[in-house]
Amino acid sequence: MESVKTLKQPLVAKHHHSNQILKNFWYGIEHSAAISAKPKTITFMGHELVLYRGTQGQIIALDGRCVHRGSELAAGWVENDCIYCPYHGWRYEADGTCSHIPANQPEVSIPIRAKLRSHQVQEKHGLVWLFWGDLPVDESPSIPDLPEFTQAGWRTVSGSFTWDGHYSRVIANTIDMAHAPFVHATAFGRKESPAVQAYKLEMSEWSASGFITFETKPAYSLKLILGNNPPNGIFRATFYMPNVSRVDLQFGKFQFVLFMVHLPVSEMQTTTKWSHIRNFVTNPLADSFMRQDVVKTFVQDNLAVKIQAGAAPLDLTEEVHAPADAIELAYRKFYAQAVQMGWSEG
Ligand code: FES
Ligand SMILES: [Fe+2]
Repeated sequence: MESVKTLKQPLVAKHHHSNQILKNFWYGIEHSAAISAKPKTITFMGHELVLYRGTQGQIIALDGRCVHRGSELAAGWVENDCIYCPYHGWRYEADGTCSHIPANQPEVSIPIRAKLRSHQVQEKHGLVWLFWGDLPVDESPSIPDLPEFTQAGWRTVSGSFTWDGHYSRVIANTIDMAHAPFVHATAFGRKESPAVQAYKLEMSEWSASGFITFETKPAYSLKLILGNNPPNGIFRATFYMPNVSRVDLQFGKFQFVLFMVHLPVSEMQTTTKWSHIRNFVTNPLADSFMRQDVVKTFVQDNLAVKIQAGAAPLDLTEEVHAPADAIELAYRKFYAQAVQMGWSEG
């Protein structure tokens, strides 16, 4: 893979079309616990999919609209790994093939085009991951690790938050180093010290990470936990192409990880499926406080994201950048690199 530093801007597809999607990646799209035998529609950048669990507990993911008259299949029912359309009862197998049209006389054959696209999914870290693309999976970037999720001494609480913005803006917000003094001024943001330490980027394949230390201003639950003389904080931001970000916060021995997959719903809407994993007050009784802290923070962040202009432009000259933006620029360069490789559609 070409290194990000030497990367030239693509000649075509200069702009990040707002309904464009990168392909040949695994996208985190939902919490595992949200998928059951009852079919559910998930909208992935305008593509409606239906997901449900089969008899072995495996997740089946198909295009979400019946090829007959466009009914939402999630309104239908599931039997033996098959999904039935609620309108005229067409039956689709787990691979998407229509295997029964009830209105047909027995001698009538099923049209060859009566088939839904099926999609590869896997479950990891309590999340459902959808493969979008045409490259063999073993030649495609893999799903990032999340060791804390299964480590003893860590407690996970999870949830979902819907933003009024394009996922390129949402993912940038979650790894942004410079907004807290303004967007989170009433909480943990220190308006009196907005300067961001110079930081180095650690690059890996399709991923980058950087950290800064800062003077802690505890807010919400951390106020109770850290007390009046909190240690300096370490904030680490990491992203993984194309829709995953991770924030690590450390205050002395207290640490938490916020692992986020950002489902691109449409050009204007993104749903973040998040997991907050902490190594302190691991008693489940504290879960609701942690959940509230995350949601309050996202509500403030969403106010910033919803007033931004459209999707992040891929042409870096369209906006002006400062050193604190280095991590977001790395994201945009990886994005442009994938586009250059032909890994985009829409
Ligand atoms: S619309 Fe689905 S069976 Fe007719
Ligand atoms: Fe924020």
